[in-house]
Amino acid sequence: MSFFSQSRPGFPPGRKGLPLVGVIPWVGGGPAQKIFEWSKEYGPIMSVRMGSQDWVVLNDYDSMHQGFVEQPTKFSGRPLIPLLNQYNKSLGLGSVDYGDSFKAYRSFGEKILRGSGIGAKTIEDRVMKETEHLVEVIRAQEGKAFVLLFLLDKAVANCIWSLQFGARSDYEDPSFNRMFSALTKRDDSNFAGTAIGLMGLLPCLMSFPFFSSVNEEFLEYYKHLLGVFTDIIAEHKKTFDKSNIRGFVDAYFVEQEKGTKHFTEEELIQYSLELFKAGTQTAAGMLGWGLLCMIHYPETQTKLREEINQAIGRSAPVSMSCKSSMPYTNAFIQELMRYRTMVPFTVPHKTSEDAELGGFNIPKGVTVMGNIWAVHNDPNVWEEPNKFKPERFINKNGDFVQSNRVIPFGLGPRDCLGYQVAQSAIFIMLVAMVRRFEFFPDPEATELPPNDAGAKGNFYIPSPFNLVAKEI
Ligand code: HEM
Repeated sequence: MSFFSQSRPGFPPGRKGLPLVGVIPWVGGGPAQKIFEWSKEYGPIMSVRMGSQDWVVLNDYDSMHQGFVEQPTKFSGRPLIPLLNQYNKSLGLGSVDYGDSFKAYRSFGEKILRGSGIGAKTIEDRVMKETEHLVEVIRAQEGKAFVLLFLLDKAVANCIWSLQFGARSDYEDPSFNRMFSALTKRDDSNFAGTAIGLMGLLPCLMSFPFFSSVNEEFLEYYKHLLGVFTDIIAEHKKTFDKSNIRGFVDAYFVEQEKGTKHFTEEELIQYSLELFKAGTQTAAGMLGWGLLCMIHYPETQTKLREEINQAIGRSAPVSMSCKSSMPYTNAFIQELMRYRTMVPFTVPHKTSEDAELGGFNIPKGVTVMGNIWAVHNDPNVWEEPNKFKPERFINKNGDFVQSNRVIPFGLGPRDCLGYQVAQSAIFIMLVAMVRRFEFFPDPEATELPPNDAGAKGNFYIPSPFNLVAKEI
């Protein structure tokens, strides 16, 4: 007990692990699950030693709410992560620390991505347009087995492209293709992801031979990615006309023309790149888990289709306004977000001042993580949390019950900037696909694709799998 426990007075109790590495050797198989297990011993607000630093992890909704929502100025910082800092110089919204530049970037991003900038309707319109194309591309597979997940990545990336540059791109367009292959290159190459993850936690590893070569390789990749974005943005600027704001990038140029503080060229490139990186595989991956659930539990697919056909038929456009007439579809999506928690931990937060939380003292500068997976899997809150049961969100009158305990996008001022984009893409694409196609497992496969095989990194993305989409 003494070897594994904290001793700093007033600091949340928890695990120290081993000298130099802390608890890292224990958390490889699923850090969110392991830390949640430990929290049963220490309480929901607990600490873990990561390398040489003591982090605080919040393992339930109440502590996350009390920190991130009720004390926003104290719990909304971002720690400097030396590994990332060499790539992005702590630029881009997700990495920037709490302060004036964060506030400027965040309110600009909210204006554009959540509504009043280029319009909430516009996000929906863009997703609807992309979805029409997606349906055509699925139809073109003519019922043969294929990896729909890859097409979903492209479709979501194109929604973000349209939001940033003004219109969807042709999949064959050289600029879009260059961006998309640079963005996804990391997944194709044999990238030693574990080594990257370890260097994120233990920066001293960066100077050891094997790690330093992985780091070099990653740095090269990131430079290439930045080069691609720099070129695309420079090309876009040639046609900039301030009387016709096409999207995020034009709106940023306007801020630059006005001389608004903090709106540098370098920030634009990192911010724009980050929206693709944070948005593409997360929203597409969620749809991928949805398809896997439909294949594993075909009765859910049937129920979805029946509801959709009854609510909007086969030809009316699918828009967000359809949501109110589809309780089961809402329940399916909410359960999906809970059951397959795409982002198990929040991005690391940092205390910007000395803070008090749940009777504990957390000094300024401490890394604080929200364990979203724990909130979604707490057996004190959820009956049979490891089962996929959309019905848990339908009340006895058949209405959908929105739960504030399902928090896939985090809480407070650092919550997901793109949640509206993600929600539109997930709802509209799912509904449009289910009403046009029936999804089956690959008939050549001897067993169903696993419904729990996903990346164990920052995002829980399903492993690619084949399926058949039979047009109805
Ligand atoms: C299902 C899809 C998605 C999920 C589950 C998700 C989840 C999250 C979570 C948990 C965070 C961290 C919150 C925190 O640190 O407390 C986050 C941050 C962020 N997300 Fe998402 N996200 C999704 C899609 C998107 C999309 C589509 C975009 C952009 C188009 C996006 C852009 C961002 C950005 C920029 C941040 C950083 C915000 C900040 O630091 O202020 N995300 N997201």
